[in-house]
Amino acid sequence: MKKFIALLLAAVMTMSLLTACGGKTEETTSETPEAEAAQDEGTEAEAEEEAPEAEAQDAETEAEAPETEVEGEAKESTDAQSEALADGVLTVGTNAEFPPFEFVGDDGEPDGFDIALIKAIGEKLGVEVEVENMEFDSLVASIGSKVDVAIAGMTVTDERKNSVDFSDAYYEAVQYVILPEGSEIATADDLAGKTIGVQLGTTGDIIASDDIEGASVSQYNKGMDAVNDLINGKVDCVIIDKNPALVFASKFEGQLTAVDGAEFGFEPEEYAIAMPKGDTALVEQVNTALEEIKADGTFDKLVETYIEN
Ligand code: ARG
Repeated sequence: MKKFIALLLAAVMTMSLLTACGGKTEETTSETPEAEAAQDEGTEAEAEEEAPEAEAQDAETEAEAPETEVEGEAKESTDAQSEALADGVLTVGTNAEFPPFEFVGDDGEPDGFDIALIKAIGEKLGVEVEVENMEFDSLVASIGSKVDVAIAGMTVTDERKNSVDFSDAYYEAVQYVILPEGSEIATADDLAGKTIGVQLGTTGDIIASDDIEGASVSQYNKGMDAVNDLINGKVDCVIIDKNPALVFASKFEGQLTAVDGAEFGFEPEEYAIAMPKGDTALVEQVNTALEEIKADGTFDKLVETYIEN
């Protein structure tokens, strides 16, 4: 009896199950656990497939950012592209009247330590470098408009920092005083009231104009023109950076001597590359390139080639 009831129960249950399944038809088959799992997997797989596309789209948006000037995005990203580099050409202003840092080479093109340095930096950044020769006094105002950056043995000063950002310093300098052989000028006091030749807008100009009492300052667009006037007796001395002073004085050996400005109390100065104010991406990239150039020996080679020889 028990057995019969059990069988009957089983039969009834089977019947009702079959009925239930039959009644529900295919519509709901996907609701079985297996089907659901399969569907989930499908959805996930699809989602995963879509993901790379979405990423690629993001990358495109990032790459386009500098061109479309989406400022907010550019600032958010740490590897934001500099606007100055976006066209693949770095336009560099210089004043090629400042050997050995920059001078006009035999081929008529600017050459020198700074030119070689900025070309090496351009190579690291993967951009072409175009050099524009102009007056030193026009350089700072041209950065961010006529040229992207300037390299010109330019000393970092607080005043210039109001208009431009500087890279890390790459060279230490000091003003020298070029004197005619046998000049009586030997100390800072001796410079008072003298006629001093300088290159317009340089730190030598600033020292002569602001710090030397009663000096009459003759400003030239080219340092060499000041030196020629020193030879002609039109100025009593020329104040100009150490390395150019040594080069210029050596052209008139026996007639001119270049004296270390430290003896006149002039402070050390540092050269750096001037860049548009606020282009932090550019400053970072230039500094990284500069570090690499120092680490791999390129920098020392350039010093040897252009400055020590
Ligand atoms: N170091 C000085 C300055 O920054 C003189 C630089 C002159 N450079 C040149 N390329 N003429 O004022």
